[in-house]
Amino acid sequence: MKIRDPKTFHVKSFGCQMNVYDGGRMTDLLEAEGLTAATEPESADLVVLNTCHIREKAAEKVYSDIGRLMKRGEKGAQPMIAVAGCVAQAEGSEITRRAPGVDIVVGPQAYHRLPELVAKARQGKSALDTDMPLISKFGVLPKRRGQGPCAFLTVQEGCDKFCTYCVVPYTRGAEVSRPREAILDEARALVEMGAREIILLGQNVNAWQGGLDALIRDLDALPGLQRIRYTTSHPNDMSEGLIRAHAEVGKLMPYLHLPVQSGSDRVLRAMNRSHSVAGYVEVIERVRAARPDIAISGDFIVGFPGETEAEFEETLELVAAVNYAQAYSFKYSARPGTPAAEMDGQVPDDVKAERLQRLQALLNAQQLAFNRGTLGKRTTVLLERAGRKPGQLVGKSPWLQSVHLETAAQIGDVVEVEIVGAGPNSLAGAELVRAAA
Ligand code: 5AD
Ligand code: SF4
Repeated sequence: MKIRDPKTFHVKSFGCQMNVYDGGRMTDLLEAEGLTAATEPESADLVVLNTCHIREKAAEKVYSDIGRLMKRGEKGAQPMIAVAGCVAQAEGSEITRRAPGVDIVVGPQAYHRLPELVAKARQGKSALDTDMPLISKFGVLPKRRGQGPCAFLTVQEGCDKFCTYCVVPYTRGAEVSRPREAILDEARALVEMGAREIILLGQNVNAWQGGLDALIRDLDALPGLQRIRYTTSHPNDMSEGLIRAHAEVGKLMPYLHLPVQSGSDRVLRAMNRSHSVAGYVEVIERVRAARPDIAISGDFIVGFPGETEAEFEETLELVAAVNYAQAYSFKYSARPGTPAAEMDGQVPDDVKAERLQRLQALLNAQQLAFNRGTLGKRTTVLLERAGRKPGQLVGKSPWLQSVHLETAAQIGDVVEVEIVGAGPNSLAGAELVRAAA
């Protein structure tokens, strides 16, 4: 039997931080409609799968998840199922054709209409909305609810750059910036609800129309806010002002995620990246001159169509030259509808796997070295969650490393620590007790 009158819901988000943000806003919306959030999808009347289309594996998960949800119908009631996010945008009605148990399909620019779509589904009608309306969803979304000490805030969406491997321009649409006042209002509300760190989000966050550095300076003046981060940036949009902000703005954390994808100029051209290897390295050098301790992170794709062994080795050379604190790396995945999917010279999977392994060995070694380099340092940690052991809390260093420590302080506090242990994925801290004045 199919549930037609949902009282509880669960939103399951995949993919990027922007998708996690969207998932949070869908939760706000459904709660405003009087539904109650269930912690587990297994018990929810309505399950929203907030999907990602960036790589093949991410997209395939959707159908196995739908299959699992349908099985619930064999034992008891089958939940109402909504597919949201980038797979919904890319596949549209193909989803309900392939998986008739799906009740709602809604794209990333239309999810403010989720309540109407649920109302349709209640009547047993199929509900699909993959519009990209000119009027942004942000104006009609309900107020944000509290979400802990670190809060995401979307300032910009979409992409006009059309890298040849990427689905984002098709699933998220053209580049749109939210207005400054709307962003600052949301930021103030988040701080009132307990946020101590705000992470500004955008597919091209540093292309935000008003100048991201000016926005960062506005946030720096917000009482109660302690830390500011932003992601993801494009090398061509690292303005002089933004680089200077890294030297001058106290709350801006020393961390920069700057994807490069490849260390070969020929591959970068085929990717339509519109920057060179030397141009990227120059940006990194300027950022480091402004903020010498900055942690550099990046994204890499191995096995782009036509990539030779020698071109892959250029990527290893770039990594060796930059020295990353942290990075993400992926095997190229042909995405339907993108130019690169049609290119000659698709690289066999075993070659991609072997290259990925070599790249990740180097990146992991750099990450460990970076973590060890913080041993003995005195720094601050924003406490985010409980640790595994009693009395232990986990938070983030300014360089976005996870730090475990024993403390009597509370989640949301910033404490001073000395770094006393360093592993590949996290640090151990000892809280510094300041002498009473
Ligand atoms: N195949 C593999 N990786 C991809 N990315 C984007 N599209 C693809 C693709 N088709 C990676 C890029 C990007 C990150 C978000 O995902 O490295 O920066
Ligand atoms: Fe995945 Fe890209 Fe959509 Fe984010 S924007 S959910 S990374 S496809």
